[in-house]
Amino acid sequence: MKTQYYTASSLDGFIATEDDSLEWLFPLANLEDSSYPEFIAEVGALAMGSATYEWMIRNAATVAAETGSPWPYTQPAWVFTSRTLSAIEGADIRFVKGDVRQVHEEMRAAAGTKNIWIVGGGDLAGQFHDAGLLDELIVQIGSVTLGRGKQLFPRRVLSPILRLTSVRQMGAGMVELRYEVGK
Ligand SMILES: NC(=O)c1ccc[n+]([C@@H]2O[C@H](COP(=O)([O-])OP(=O)(O)OC[C@H]3O[C@@H](n4cnc5c(N)ncnc54)[C@H](OP(=O)(O)O)[C@@H]3O)[C@@H](O)[C@H]2O)c1
Repeated sequence: MKTQYYTASSLDGFIATEDDSLEWLFPLANLEDSSYPEFIAEVGALAMGSATYEWMIRNAATVAAETGSPWPYTQPAWVFTSRTLSAIEGADIRFVKGDVRQVHEEMRAAAGTKNIWIVGGGDLAGQFHDAGLLDELIVQIGSVTLGRGKQLFPRRVLSPILRLTSVRQMGAGMVELRYEVGK
């Protein structure tokens, strides 16, 4: 069982524009041609911050057209927020706040032998890393730059370095890098 931060980023390290747009990403990748199907098959629980959750709500029609459902996850999900957010009908979601360690315990119990996916954003993944709970970073780097935006991973990780374990090119538009987090 691993805790994995799996995400797409621009070459200059942003996972969304400042106003939470992902329009730059869609022309670069087709989910079905990526590692996503094999990745998600091994996920037993997932967590995201409220900006990511609210993106899903705002783009429910697009998500449904792509995946067949406005909430494409069958796994239990934890959404971090200090506010009261509306739930998506039929989605298995718990709204939580504060320390990620207790939530991670709950996620582990739910995931069993499967992996835990930190969907984003970058600071939430950083909170799991701060607590020593992040095992792997899997980043699809798109061949574009955004200049500004929501950061991939706003942390300083110097020693031990992240250990590069695989590089997979997906045409001219993307490369997937996998890193193990040193403990
Ligand atoms: N490129 C990709 O593959 C990819 C992947 C994932 C996400 N995204 C996009 O990237 C953007 C990420 O946005 P973001 O960087 O702002 O991150 P985010 O993690 O989605 O949202 C951040 C917000 O979550 C809440 N939060 C975080 N940690 C918390 C904690 N411990 N307790 C309580 N609340 C907590 C806070 O908001 P409140 O307390 O005010 O609710 C915080 O401002 C979104 O647009 C998303 O759609 C892209």
